[in-house]
Amino acid sequence: MPYADDMLIDHALAARERAYAPYSKFKVGAAIIDENGKIHTGCNVENAAYPLGNCAEASAISAMVAAGSRRITKIAIAGGAERIEDCTPCGGCRQAIAEFAKPDTIILLRKADGSVSRYAMTELLPHAFRLEP
Ligand code: THU
Repeated sequence: MPYADDMLIDHALAARERAYAPYSKFKVGAAIIDENGKIHTGCNVENAAYPLGNCAEASAISAMVAAGSRRITKIAIAGGAERIEDCTPCGGCRQAIAEFAKPDTIILLRKADGSVSRYAMTELLPHAFRLEP
């Protein structure tokens, strides 16, 4: 494993600090390790026109794809309001992650008490929609 889980969580927490969430006050950070061991991070970016806001996971995926990578080996998510709350990825982000993950890809969730929960992709999104196998 190129990076320990806590290192990936640290990247997600650092990205969370850079979140732009003036409306919800709910800051989220995400960090991906790609197939080459490279880290890509993202944070939520809100907009006065609320539906235009981006989730942290989607931002991290965009950074990964723009850097030329195509595979999420592992992703960590850390989020919540001022006192960090539990943040599980929204339904849309589960589908977005599944596009670049395998069924057994690990999703790390940094919880409010500082503990980390580990889920396999299929646990969070069973029967994900795919156009190709
Ligand atoms: N948010 C994320 O960034 N990721 C999630 O998986 C859940 C929600 C953001 C969107 C919005 O900016 C804020 O959290 C409150 O919904």
